[in-house]
Amino acid sequence: MNEEQLQTVATRIVEIIDYAKKHLAHDGSGHGFDHAQRVAHLAQKILLNTKETVDATVVLAACYLHDTIDDKVVADVEGATEDLREFLETQGLSSDQVLEILFIIDNLSFSKQYFGNSLELPLSGQIVQDADRLEALGAMGLMRTAYFGGYSGHPLYDPAIKPKTFTSKAEYRQGTTVINHVYEKLFLLVDMMNTAYGKEEGQRRKAFMEDFLKEFYQEWEI
Ligand code: ADP
Ligand code: NI
Repeated sequence: MNEEQLQTVATRIVEIIDYAKKHLAHDGSGHGFDHAQRVAHLAQKILLNTKETVDATVVLAACYLHDTIDDKVVADVEGATEDLREFLETQGLSSDQVLEILFIIDNLSFSKQYFGNSLELPLSGQIVQDADRLEALGAMGLMRTAYFGGYSGHPLYDPAIKPKTFTSKAEYRQGTTVINHVYEKLFLLVDMMNTAYGKEEGQRRKAFMEDFLKEFYQEWEI
């Protein structure tokens, strides 16, 4: 995959990008359009490093759309999924492409995989998954986690509350503290990456978060 081919794909999916923009516009949980766009840009980097044949239209469309049917963003997941399916059917995609995009979005999430409820993703989906997971790491990941924590009413940090090993999605959704989330999810993602780029960039972002935590504890103890 080269830059020129990616550019062609990006121009072919402008209506899909618009759909994402419209549906993510009111998000206040760190899953807004800017997040979707960075996921797409990270996926482009991974695609440029991928030798195998992958349908870049499916990858980029799934990146832009992945949070438009998420339970954190919409109240009615089933309704949103139906709306998305109907929209995709108007986009000149093959029915296999539509199915693949919806399959990827449905099986992408950390919590679904962690609690053993996800199906194995094709390479296209593994790329979207790594791109989305990189967005959960590094400076961006820390800011999004703090933002989500505020949105959910979690404390920033409490030394008396230890990081948890969750046994259900409901418990995971409840969460504990912002700092704990780094141990409860973010660090775990680094070892769950699929692609070479994801693994390498994941380690780089993890090292940054470790430095951040050292500084945070030092300032907390002042
Ligand atoms: P997934 O849907 O892949 O299981 P989430 O949607 O739960 O993952 O998480 C997406 C991002 O939202 C996280 O990377 C994090 O920044 C934020 N987030 C989710 N749950 C929490 C939480 N309990 N505390 C703080 N941030 C959270
Ligand atoms: Ni996401």
